[in-house]
Amino acid sequence: MPFHGLHATRGVSGRASRSRSAVKILITGGAGFIGSHLAEHLAEGGDSITCLDNYRTGRNLVRHPRIAYQEGDVRNVDAVTAMVRMTDVVYHLAAAVGVRYCIECPDYAFETNVVGAHNVLQACLRHRKEFVYISSSAVYGKTRRSRVSEDADVTYGSVCREEWFYSHYKGTIDGLLCWYGRCGKAVKILRVFNCIGSRQSGAYGMVVPRFVGWARRDRPIQVYGDGQQTRTFADVRDVVRGIALVQRSGHCGEPYNLGGTEEIRIIDLARRIRKMLRSRSRIVCVPYEEAFVRGFEETRRRRPNIAKIRSLGFVPRWCTDQTLEWIVGDGHLRLQDRQSS
Ligand SMILES: NC(=O)c1ccc[n+]([C@@H]2O[C@H](COP(=O)([O-])OP(=O)(O)OC[C@H]3O[C@@H](n4cnc5c(N)ncnc54)[C@H](O)[C@@H]3O)[C@@H](O)[C@H]2O)c1
Repeated sequence: MPFHGLHATRGVSGRASRSRSAVKILITGGAGFIGSHLAEHLAEGGDSITCLDNYRTGRNLVRHPRIAYQEGDVRNVDAVTAMVRMTDVVYHLAAAVGVRYCIECPDYAFETNVVGAHNVLQACLRHRKEFVYISSSAVYGKTRRSRVSEDADVTYGSVCREEWFYSHYKGTIDGLLCWYGRCGKAVKILRVFNCIGSRQSGAYGMVVPRFVGWARRDRPIQVYGDGQQTRTFADVRDVVRGIALVQRSGHCGEPYNLGGTEEIRIIDLARRIRKMLRSRSRIVCVPYEEAFVRGFEETRRRRPNIAKIRSLGFVPRWCTDQTLEWIVGDGHLRLQDRQSS
C-alpha cells in the first residue's frame, strides 16, 4: 500500500514495518512544548513536517527548512481532513494540557481532547494514514503502585469532579485506540509521564518552569499540599526519541509508557532548583484547596514501568539533574520570566 513515499505492510501481530523515504508528517500541536521538539527531531532525520496548531498555549515556531506551520484547529473537521490527506503519518499532540487547564476550561478541553482527537483519528482511518497518539500518565488515575505498568487497573475520583476530567478525556481516546489496534488499524499509543525541558511554559501550571521562574526572581516557591507527593521527570529529548521509536517499531494498539526513572518528592525538586540557581526563595506549602478547588485530590505517586518501551531498544540518555541544568540555563525560560514579572 504505497502512498507518498511510505510503504507500510502489516503482519499478523499488527506491527507495521516500513522502508522510509522522506516521510510527510503532520504534527498537531506542533508549536507546543513537546511538538516543537518532535518536529525538530524528525526534520533532522530527513522527514518533511507540517505543524497544525491554533497557538492557544504554544507558539514555538522552529526555523528549519523542512518544518512548516499551518494555523488551524483540530475541532474543525474540514481543516483536519484536508491536512491529513496530504500526509503519511500523523502525530497527535494538540490538547488542552494538564489538570489545571481542564478545571478552568472544561468545555474547550473536552472539544479539543476528545472531539478534536476523534476528528484527527477518523480522518486518518478514512484516508489510511498512521495515527500516533500522545496519551498521558493521567490515564492511570490515583494509582499508588511503585511502578505502574501499561495493564494496571485504575481508580479515578468521582466523574463529577473536574480534577479528573483530564484523565477521563485522555483515557477515552487511549482506550478507543487500544480497540482500533486490536482491529488491525495503524494506531500507536504513548503514555507520557511528566516531561520537562527547554521551551516548556509555566503559564498553565507545569511545575518545573514555575519553580524555576520563582527561584530566579527570589520569590516564594509554592509547593502544593505537603510536598511529599512524588513524580518522575523525563527529558523532552528522550521523549521525542521514544515517540519516534514507537512509531517505527511499536505494536499497533499497544500502549507504551514513556517517562523518567528517578522518583523525586516535589519538595525536594523545589530545593534542588533553589540550590542550582543559588536562590534566596523561601519554600512555602500551599493547601490544595487554595491552589485548585475545594476537596482537590492529587495523585500521590506516579512512576512508570518502562520495560515495554525498553524492549524496543529505548534507553533514556538524560538524568533529572542534567535536564534541570539545561532548563535553568535556558534563555527561552529567562525571556518568559522577564515578560511575566
Ligand atoms: N508535558 C507533559 O509532561 C505531558 C505529559 C503527558 C502527556 N502530554 C501530552 O503531550 C501533548 C503535548 O503537550 P505539551 O506539554 O507539549 O503541551 P503544549 O500546551 O505545549 O502543547 C499543546 C499544543 O496544542 C495546541 N492546541 C491546543 N488546542 C488546540 C486545538 N483545538 N487545535 C489545534 N491545536 C491546539 C496548543 O496551542 C499547543 O501548541 C499533549 O497531548 C499532552 O496531553 C504531555
